[in-house]
Amino acid sequence: MMAVNLGKLKLKNPVMVASGTFGYAEEFSGFMDLRKLGAVITKTITLKPRPGNPMPRTCETPAGMLNSIGLENPGIEDFLKKKSDYLKKLKVPIIVSIASEDSPDEFITLAKRLDKEYFVSAIELNISCPNIKKAGSKRKSEKLIAQDPKATYDLVKKVRKATKKTLITKLSPNVTDITKIAMAAENAGSDTLSLINTLGAMSIDILNKKPKLAAITGGLSGPAIRPVALRMVWEAYRKVKIPLIGLGGIIDTESAIEFFLAGASAVAVGTGNFINPKTSLEIIEGIKKYLSANKIRDIRKITGALNI
Ligand SMILES: Cc1cc2nc3c(=O)[nH]c(=O)nc-3n(C[C@H](O)[C@H](O)[C@H](O)COP(=O)(O)O)c2cc1C
Repeated sequence: MMAVNLGKLKLKNPVMVASGTFGYAEEFSGFMDLRKLGAVITKTITLKPRPGNPMPRTCETPAGMLNSIGLENPGIEDFLKKKSDYLKKLKVPIIVSIASEDSPDEFITLAKRLDKEYFVSAIELNISCPNIKKAGSKRKSEKLIAQDPKATYDLVKKVRKATKKTLITKLSPNVTDITKIAMAAENAGSDTLSLINTLGAMSIDILNKKPKLAAITGGLSGPAIRPVALRMVWEAYRKVKIPLIGLGGIIDTESAIEFFLAGASAVAVGTGNFINPKTSLEIIEGIKKYLSANKIRDIRKITGALNI
C-alpha cells in the first residue's frame, strides 16, 4: 500500500514534486502522466508579481546546483486566473506554496484567498527562501522567519486562524537547531513540515574573479545536500509528532527510501526534475518494488524504521 496521510490530506502515493522545480505542473505535461504523482507543490506565489533576481541565477556545483531565482512569479491573482484552470483538471492534490515579500501579514492575505479555492488541497508556507530581498534593500533580508522559533510560531499561528486547509511549513537548513523551529511550527498548528529548503551557498569564477550568481549568494540543492537533509529529518522526527515531508537531493529510489527510514512520511523531488523530468514517477515504481522485494505491505511501516 502506497497511500499516506499528511494531516487531513490524503495522498495515493507519497512522492511529490518540490516547489520551484516543477513550475505550475503544465510545463511538465508533455514529459509524463502527471496524474500518477502523489501531489504537486507549485512554485511559490506572492501577493504581487515578482520579476525575480538578475541573471545569471543558476549554476552547477559538484553534485548539485546553486539558484537565486528570487521567487519569480505572476502574483496570486494572475496565478488563479491563468494557471489554476489546468491545475483544477489535474486530479492530483495541489499544494500551493506561498511567501511574503515585505510583511508576514501577506501570508495571511494569501492564505485567506486560497482558502476559498476548492482545487487547493494544502498550503505550504515558504518561510525559508534564501533568495528574497526586503523591498528597497540592496541586501538580502537579514533573517528568515524559519531562522527564528518565535517568528515561526507567531506566523504559523496567525495563518492557522486564516485557513482550514492543510498547512505545511517549509523549514530552512540554515539554522543551528532545526528541532526548535520544527517544534515551534507544530505547536502553532502546522499539520505537517517540509524539510529542507536550500542551503545558503556561493560559487566563484576564478578567471574573472566574479561570483557565478548575479545575486552573489544563492541556495544549494541536489545530492550534495542530501546528507544534511537526512540528518535534519531524523532530528525533527524524534521531536515532533506531525508527519514530515523529506526533500533535499532525492534523485532515485534509494535516496527516497533513505528519507522514509529517517522519519519522513512523504518525499518531494526538486533538482532531480531537472536531471530527468520523470524522476518522481520512477521513484514511485521503485518504492513499490522495494516494498514488495522486502515483503513490506505498507509504506507507512518504513517511516522512521531506521535500525540503530
Ligand atoms: C531552481 C530552484 C527553484 C526553487 N524555488 C523554490 C520556491 O519557489 N519555493 C520553495 O519553497 N522552494 C524552492 N526551491 C527549493 C526546493 O523546493 C527544495 O526545497 C530544494 O531545492 C531541496 O531539494 P532538492 O535538492 O531535491 O532540489 C527551489 C529550488 C531550485 C533548485
